[in-house]
Amino acid sequence: MNKANIQLAENLTFSRFSHGYWRAHKWQLPTKQYTQLIENVLELGITTFDHAACYGGFTNETAFGNALADNPELRGKMQIVSKCGILFPNGTFPEMQSKHYDNSREHIIWSAERSVRELRCGYLDVLLVHRPSPCADPEEIAAAFDHLHRAGTVRHFGVSNYSPAKLNMLQSYLSQPLVTNQIEISPLHLNAFEQDLDYLLEKRIKPMAWSPLGGGRLFDADNERSRRIQAALLKIGEKYGETRLDTLAYAWLLSHPAHIMPVIGSGRIERIKNAADALKLDFTEEDWIGIYSASMGHDVP
Ligand SMILES: NC(=O)c1ccc[n+]([C@@H]2O[C@H](COP(=O)([O-])OP(=O)(O)OC[C@H]3O[C@@H](n4cnc5c(N)ncnc54)[C@H](OP(=O)(O)O)[C@@H]3O)[C@@H](O)[C@H]2O)c1
Repeated sequence: MNKANIQLAENLTFSRFSHGYWRAHKWQLPTKQYTQLIENVLELGITTFDHAACYGGFTNETAFGNALADNPELRGKMQIVSKCGILFPNGTFPEMQSKHYDNSREHIIWSAERSVRELRCGYLDVLLVHRPSPCADPEEIAAAFDHLHRAGTVRHFGVSNYSPAKLNMLQSYLSQPLVTNQIEISPLHLNAFEQDLDYLLEKRIKPMAWSPLGGGRLFDADNERSRRIQAALLKIGEKYGETRLDTLAYAWLLSHPAHIMPVIGSGRIERIKNAADALKLDFTEEDWIGIYSASMGHDVP
């Protein structure tokens, strides 16, 4: 049985799975159904919700906030993560005319305060710097974090898509410990297993995994690599009496010792339940390597 909850800091515990809102504008849920979805997700024991200021062209946090306002009791049952720093042309802010990053003190504070306002959540449990910028000034980030922490706007901080070297560098400027690094990890994206997870294991930092199903590519019937992974998952699934590809792929992530916390991207409750059911499976190292090898297309050395 895999751990259903993960402690990230003394006073911060996430559910093993988070529910992600990158694609939420495509779900086209009226507010009542949106609130219902959040309630159903919470009933599955998934209490952590993943946002970013820029999702849906700066509209998805607003829709979630409207759903939350429909049942304000829900806020106390959840942890809310949001991210800052990515800007691109969008309909909400016409002044954003090019794709770029802004990791200035002023922008980070503006973004986090706006997220809290739009999400109608009072405070963020965790704010992540969405992507490392090649020209970010760590002193600016540190100053923004200090301000947001002092003001009670944000309780904890983390990063996303940071290499071990960049995380280490940023941490050296901060007064607060970085509680997570949200990175891409899936059976179709193995980079993290080369370096990132070793560093996070060393620092006892638990990673969040974005696109845990490869953004849906795992299910492609005409992609040879996906088909190899599907076959390996189903073969190992036979041993456990499990035939759902998504459940098996999530189980593979959960069975890694780094305490990976997958971020679920689907808005369909039956698929979210498939994720939660993966907690019941625990793969052996042989199972795990079988899926890894299928993804690489050859045996381990
Ligand atoms: N930090 C970052 O830079 C970053 C980047 C990307 C994403 N994220 C976070 O990670 C979350 C998850 O990313 P993701 O949406 O790419 O996750 P994902 O779970 O890898 O992909 C979700 C996609 O897979 C499809 N899917 C799920 N289960 C399926 C099934 N059983 N059969 C067929 N298709 C299936 C979904 O379709 P349906 O919707 O129809 O179910 C959806 O289109 C995002 O919401 C966001 O919060 C963070």
